[in-house]
Amino acid sequence: MEHVYELKNKNIRLEKVDPDNFDDLYDLEVTEPQKNFVAPNRYSMAEAYAHLSNGDFVQCFGIYDGETPVGFTMIGHDIEEEGSPESVNKCYLLWRFMIDQRYQGKGLGRDALHLLLDWVLTFPDGPSERFSTSYEPENEVAKHLYTSFGFIPTGEKDCDDEDAEDVAVMPLN
Ligand SMILES: CC(C)(COP(=O)(O)OP(=O)(O)OC[C@H]1O[C@@H](n2cnc3c(N)ncnc32)[C@H](O)[C@@H]1OP(=O)(O)O)[C@@H](O)C(=O)NCCC(=O)NCCS
Repeated sequence: MEHVYELKNKNIRLEKVDPDNFDDLYDLEVTEPQKNFVAPNRYSMAEAYAHLSNGDFVQCFGIYDGETPVGFTMIGHDIEEEGSPESVNKCYLLWRFMIDQRYQGKGLGRDALHLLLDWVLTFPDGPSERFSTSYEPENEVAKHLYTSFGFIPTGEKDCDDEDAEDVAVMPLN
């Protein structure tokens, strides 16, 4: 699968989270009403550490516009979450994705997603048939972004919880 596009933000890049850059990222925040849509970055990084310690494949990235940290994202592969459908467990998973409130609405989210897809298409933890994500049903911006990008809603929920998210999947072959 080849993926061709032109970035709107020419200086955007993904930087793997490491000891030198993690403190650029943990204070990036979404707006108050959006806090229901994504975990705080410091929680996500702690969760990533826990999964890495368990031998799981997880990669966190800072999203940068030039030297400015503007967002954070976390990808997993074959993460077995109890109560999650196979479409979420057996795949590359767009697990967390956020652009700080100061930088939203400038096309950085869409550009970052293109860069992430390029990275996923290198199959960094081996082949997979799909790239999955999930979002709160009332998160219209995420739903629009993901579906216009090629994620297809499956009609499934990501878990059994009351506040479960809607699942959407992009085939990778
Ligand atoms: C979802 C999110 C990452 C999008 O990032 P962004 O940089 O603001 O998005 P972009 O500027 O690239 O815009 C992407 C699309 O969403 C639309 N959009 C962005 N903000 C919007 C808003 N407030 N209202 C309506 N549409 C909006 C844009 O018009 C664009 O659509 P288009 O390309 O068809 O015109 C960002 O809003 C965010 O961090 N939200 C809170 C956390 C979250 O919901 N994460 C996803 C968890 S599943």
